[in-house]
Amino acid sequence: MGLLGVLIAGLLYHTCVIAQDDNQACYATVGEPYTHFGTKTPYSVVLNKDDSEVKFPGCRPAQFWLTARHGTRYPGEDDIELMARRLPELQQTALKNAAEGRGELCEQDLTNIRSWSLAFDVSVENNLTPSGEQELFDMAKRFQRRFPTLLGPPYSPEKHKFQSTVKQRARESGRFFAKGLFGDQPVEFPKSEKNHPLLQFYKTCNRWRELIDDSEASRHERYTFQNSTHMLGTIDHVSRRLGFTSNMSYADVRLIYDICRYDKTLHPDRVSAWCAAFSEQDLKVMEFDMDLEYYWVDSYGYELNYRQACPQVKDFITKFNAVRSSPERQPLANMYFSHLGGVLKFITLLGVFNDTRPLTSADFGTSHAFRSSLASAFATNVALVLFECSDGYRVATYVQEHPTELPGCGSLLCPLDELAQRYRSAVESCDLEGMCAAAGWLAKAWNTALWALPALAALV
Ligand SMILES: *[C@@H]1O[C@H](CO)[C@@H](O)[C@H](O)[C@H]1NC(C)=O
Ligand SMILES: *[C@@H]1O[C@H](CO)[C@@H](O)[C@H](O)[C@H]1NC(C)=O
Ligand SMILES: *[C@@H]1O[C@H](CO)[C@@H](O)[C@H](O)[C@H]1NC(C)=O
Repeated sequence: MGLLGVLIAGLLYHTCVIAQDDNQACYATVGEPYTHFGTKTPYSVVLNKDDSEVKFPGCRPAQFWLTARHGTRYPGEDDIELMARRLPELQQTALKNAAEGRGELCEQDLTNIRSWSLAFDVSVENNLTPSGEQELFDMAKRFQRRFPTLLGPPYSPEKHKFQSTVKQRARESGRFFAKGLFGDQPVEFPKSEKNHPLLQFYKTCNRWRELIDDSEASRHERYTFQNSTHMLGTIDHVSRRLGFTSNMSYADVRLIYDICRYDKTLHPDRVSAWCAAFSEQDLKVMEFDMDLEYYWVDSYGYELNYRQACPQVKDFITKFNAVRSSPERQPLANMYFSHLGGVLKFITLLGVFNDTRPLTSADFGTSHAFRSSLASAFATNVALVLFECSDGYRVATYVQEHPTELPGCGSLLCPLDELAQRYRSAVESCDLEGMCAAAGWLAKAWNTALWALPALAALV
């Protein structure tokens, strides 16, 4: 490279760095802010916009099967109470810091934080938001355009089956999906039950609750990451940006992250004031913290996480086999509306977003298939569509509406028999009572011992 080249490279480098600094310095002016927010990612970030009619030569759509997480919801009661109490304090301190010349927020970001107030109270805790209603309504419209013969009007209670859990956010998600398909025509939702066995199998899985969900051991990687230079760096940046003279707690930074992502999913078209406390890199650090949580507690981290999702696999295989044996008497669509806890475990059992090795705290910044933003955004869903083809029945899979080849199928259109074969052992060993039996004190003690082992090793 000649002198001129070096000069140009230097100039380019200089311009890029300046441009980046400018972006960083004023969040309100970032054109496309980073919105991969783990399990609070807006559905618009992950969905497939292509809604052209799906046609495979020699095939005819025969049945639609959908399992979907509810759309964007408000935070839970405890979170709202904490936000209402703590955020105004942090807001006042940050504004005072700025008035005293500390902090790195630009004028516009400060103005946004000054005019911020909590937009909801505990009366709406955990309810579906208007943006969440829209997510399901629009999703239904796109699916209908892709599969008009299965999802088009007229509605018929025998042909279009809806089911949700008892929770408002799941029920309303189903209702808005139905509205997207059939407008204001009332549709039947069979009465649901608490801890729905098909949709909320994990609620009654004692062994999973004791050994994984309530356990410190399953958070080992996450806690290690929370002590890493990445997370400590993020805490340092956020504290400095807001003008604090000492490092904030992880809990406060996490609270600011939570309001940043909730406000954004609630009002996708507005600037979310508190996001200004983070650089894009900081948001990626917070996202990875979520990846570690959900990988170990609901996904590939432990076999029991996903083995228990077998009732859903059994359900679609049974429904598709019924079409094969008596096509004219079967529904055109079975649609389920539930929660992250069930849908993510099912996605995992299918083998989607799987990596070749476990996700650890050291994997930040590397590329990995499992990302909570992609696998568990609001309204996350899997649609399996049965086709009757000239050479037999086949199934196409759609994850977040994207055509998705299941592992071991070799093509998008998987022969039904091959699919059933692939998940046969999962279905045949689907004994929830057995696999979920309470762990007992011995297993719990063993689990605790495993968790304590590295600490013990450090002592000797
Ligand atoms: C993180 O650091 C704190 C304070 O240094 C320590 O008490 C804690 O055990 C550490 N946690 C992990 C998982 O390393
Ligand atoms: C905040 O934490 C960072 C990273 O651990 C450290 O380098 C810095 O000195 C801390 N700042 C203060 C003011 O303690
Ligand atoms: C995920 O991938 C690993 C390695 O390729 C494989 O051994 C494992 O069975 C896969 N997990 C699931 C649930 O499909």
